[in-house]
Amino acid sequence: MITLIVGTNRPGSNTRKVARHVEEIYATLKVPLHVLDLAQLPPEIFSPSSYAEKPKSFLPFSDAILRSAGLHVVTPEYNGSVPGVLKYFIDMLKFPESFEKRPVCFTGLGAGIWGALRPVEQLQAIFGYRNAYVYPDRVFLPKINDLLDDAGRLKDPELLQRLKSQAEGFVDFVERLQKTRLRG
Ligand SMILES: Cc1cc2nc3c(=O)[nH]c(=O)nc-3n(C[C@H](O)[C@H](O)[C@H](O)COP(=O)(O)O)c2cc1C
Repeated sequence: MITLIVGTNRPGSNTRKVARHVEEIYATLKVPLHVLDLAQLPPEIFSPSSYAEKPKSFLPFSDAILRSAGLHVVTPEYNGSVPGVLKYFIDMLKFPESFEKRPVCFTGLGAGIWGALRPVEQLQAIFGYRNAYVYPDRVFLPKINDLLDDAGRLKDPELLQRLKSQAEGFVDFVERLQKTRLRG
């Protein structure tokens, strides 16, 4: 199973809209996918006591990471970086087993012209530090508000193709590293 992390909890986020395309692509590839939307995080996880003891309601999130053959993170750019909630989510996960030797892939989007290059590179540093296997083919979606139509769908078939190629390549990468077959 691949786990797709929707990297913000902002209501109505464009990240969720892009993540929906990524979900559909994995469905077409017949790859089992679990979606972790940070908008669904239980409020208790934000209590300072969570550093020492995780609330039971967080278990579905932390266990999904541990059960994943690979992780696909879709992140927006907030203040030249990753959303605080995404970094906090990472900080709440079990150390070191959550990311150790786990394949991970990044898609970024932003309102500006860099398409979340900064947060994606920051995530590569974080996951590299945590000994994850970083998939090198990244996708950036700049000026995201111009790329989506009124229904929240990406308008440019070339971008959809880029997301598809990324997912296909990532599935190969995961299958080789984990010596498993993901495609049904
Ligand atoms: C708190 C905050 C900070 C932001 N900072 C940046 C930024 O530094 N660079 C940028 O290109 N867009 C920035 N944006 C715009 C987001 O990239 C934009 O909202 C985009 O749609 C992706 O985020 P979303 O999933 O919240 O919609 C920011 C948005 C928010 C809410």
